[in-house]
Amino acid sequence: MWWYRKAGGAKPPSVASLDTPLDELLGHYRRAQFQQLLAQRRYGGRAWQWDDYVRWGQELVHTAQVQRPPVGPAPSVPLAETYRCIHCHNLVREDVVLTRQDPEAREQLLEENPALGGKKTGVRLTTGTTFWGMVNRERFYNGYYAKYHRLQVREGERFRPMDPSSLADAVQVCCSYCSAGRFPEDWELDSILAYLWTLELRLRDLDLPAEMQRRILEQFNSGNPQAVDAARQQLRQYYLVASQAHAVDPPTRSEGDKDTYPPSVAELEQLFAPGQSRSASNASQPASTSRKNLVATGDPKRGEWLYRSACAFCHGNEVHPKAGRSLATSPGTFHRYVWKGTQRDGLYMPFFTRERLSPRQATDIRAYLRSLPPEKKISD
Ligand code: HEC
Ligand code: HEC
Repeated sequence: MWWYRKAGGAKPPSVASLDTPLDELLGHYRRAQFQQLLAQRRYGGRAWQWDDYVRWGQELVHTAQVQRPPVGPAPSVPLAETYRCIHCHNLVREDVVLTRQDPEAREQLLEENPALGGKKTGVRLTTGTTFWGMVNRERFYNGYYAKYHRLQVREGERFRPMDPSSLADAVQVCCSYCSAGRFPEDWELDSILAYLWTLELRLRDLDLPAEMQRRILEQFNSGNPQAVDAARQQLRQYYLVASQAHAVDPPTRSEGDKDTYPPSVAELEQLFAPGQSRSASNASQPASTSRKNLVATGDPKRGEWLYRSACAFCHGNEVHPKAGRSLATSPGTFHRYVWKGTQRDGLYMPFFTRERLSPRQATDIRAYLRSLPPEKKISD
């Protein structure tokens, strides 16, 4: 997609402030290019406003269809039969430190600020990453998900493999494959992208230390190309230009509320140890060579909240009728679904990576489900 090509040495905005979008500070101007492109588009024989696209995009993300679309039948044909983007993606900031994708930090954040949680618009422990700041990423489906780069996307009447640096391609992949739906029409793709642009990052969002913030603004406003370049290099270390994904191996043994995870998981945990800062550049393999297991003992009390946050949005409703204790009748099945998901055409269960759920959290959820009386229905 031409509007995702790097704009190279474009000038920064004339006066940079805390509210300046990163897209402008970095000299990409992808939003402006995309807006220009939309202004030339015709759907249903006419041009539409940016705000129209944003509104349709928001409807698509929440409900998979648009009540009064620009073309075709009204309401529009749903993108997918069952899944909606919000089943698997938050729409708001989910990480306190933007370079640290740790679900335990998310749990703590929500414990301290319960108001940030919430079914449709709050933070939940979802299998996909948040849409907030999605337009600022430069590479999609990374780490364990890199195998998706082989998937095909539609371009006009042709199909070709996805371009990992194209957000538009990533959206296509998620509409068709992750959502178990179909490829979006051009107007649908344009609308989802316009909506995602309303969730772009600004300098303020990076929470830079005050002194650095002042210096970076000075550099941007200096007009000196070298200073601007240095400021750009620095900015890119304070958010994730590419989100990470590590698969978790299921426990080798489960007894009561206790799960014994293999050494591979214990090593993985070191990536998330407190004080470990992870940016795109240093998210390499765990360094340790110790071959210890990770033993987790479930806490049913924590598990209750975690279950509501990570599972109940899909379980016990129209996505999947099973809920509560019946999900934990066998530890093997429980962990297989959580860490491997299912692969099938049609409605499937997506798996959690370490960036989305920790081994301890899964063990807590299992302990909570085991603590329920067999028939109790969970309503959420
Ligand atoms: C059933 C779950 C599910 C649904 C529904 C879903 N996604 Fe995803 N999506 C994922 C997972 C899992 C990933 C990979 C992890 C990640 O990076 O977010 C992903 C990745 C993405 C990415 C790439 C993110 C990145 O940084 O690599 C985009 C863009 C995306 N999804 C858009 C959408 C849109 C738009 C919809 C709705 C039309 C949607 N998704 C619906 C699960 C889902
Ligand atoms: C995005 C939606 C979604 C989320 C989130 C989700 N599941 Fe599922 N789950 C499903 C679907 C759909 C199936 C059926 C999959 C299939 O049949 O291929 C399923 C199946 C299961 C099963 C097997 C049920 C059976 O048939 O006996 C278990 C166990 C399970 N999920 C546990 C969990 C747990 C635990 C969580 C939270 C940590 C969770 N799921 C989160 C959608 C979801």
